[in-house]
Amino acid sequence: MALCPAFTKAGCPCAYKGKPCFGGYCGVHKSQAPKEPVEPPSPKPPTIEPYFKNDNHTIFCGDSSQLMKQMPNESVDLVLTDPPYKDYISQRPNNDYAKPIDKGAFTFEKLVSDIERVLKPNRHFYIWCCDVTVADAIIAVKNSKTLKFKNILKWVKNNWGAGDCKGAYGRRTELCIFGQKGRREFFTNRATDVFYANRIPPKRGKHPTVKPVSILQDWIERSTLPGEVVFDPYAGSHSMAESAKLAGRDSISFELDSQYCDLGITKLT
Ligand SMILES: C[S@@+](CC[C@H](N)C(=O)[O-])C[C@H]1O[C@@H](n2cnc3c(N)ncnc32)[C@H](O)[C@@H]1O
Repeated sequence: MALCPAFTKAGCPCAYKGKPCFGGYCGVHKSQAPKEPVEPPSPKPPTIEPYFKNDNHTIFCGDSSQLMKQMPNESVDLVLTDPPYKDYISQRPNNDYAKPIDKGAFTFEKLVSDIERVLKPNRHFYIWCCDVTVADAIIAVKNSKTLKFKNILKWVKNNWGAGDCKGAYGRRTELCIFGQKGRREFFTNRATDVFYANRIPPKRGKHPTVKPVSILQDWIERSTLPGEVVFDPYAGSHSMAESAKLAGRDSISFELDSQYCDLGITKLT
């Protein structure tokens, strides 16, 4: 028994082949209708169109929490993302490329549940984090029923952060959680959990937290096959998309800031 597509709270507008309609079911008499009252289908939110699209790469400019709703289940082969966990303005007040973000909007729990849904089975995921957020990220993954925590990968940089240098160790690493949904083996050589690359200065990268393409490309090639789809819901300068292009993989990126989306287009064209 199929629900009438035109059914609304006001009733069923069609006289289906002259037969009675009841409770949203066309051609159904009251006596045959399901006992449970049916709710009319809620209107679908409008689809947000891509900001940029070519045969292999797509950029959506907008809020990831909205855009995520239009991502089909089990549709991507790798999630490789770097979510916003700090307010760039307070962190780097003199940085021209710093943008304020709504700190309350992001949680690792939400990200993990989105990854659970959109990632195909037997695939990998990578979530960048830092000393301060790594515990929250791991707890969120460990609480997941379908995702498995595997490693904390370390990017060792050529510089280290300022801050409380007399009361804390200077941070020279950035951390990334690696895990799996199901199991997939690496497609390239075995590797340790330490990766070396120079930091990209914000002036050169046109973004305050650019991740190195050399490392991202290595991970993409390790975790996917050519032509598979890599997804980053917090794209920033689009270093993931750039790395996917270099690796011959497809990419889908979400980014709130149109300036960073424009930067992404320059890397993909
Ligand atoms: C840590 S940065 C990503 C940097 C990136 N990995 C790179 O290499 O350039 C996070 C990005 O998420 C974006 N962002 C913040 N909130 C967002 C949201 N709700 N939806 C989409 N993007 C968002 C920010 O504008 C920022 O560029």
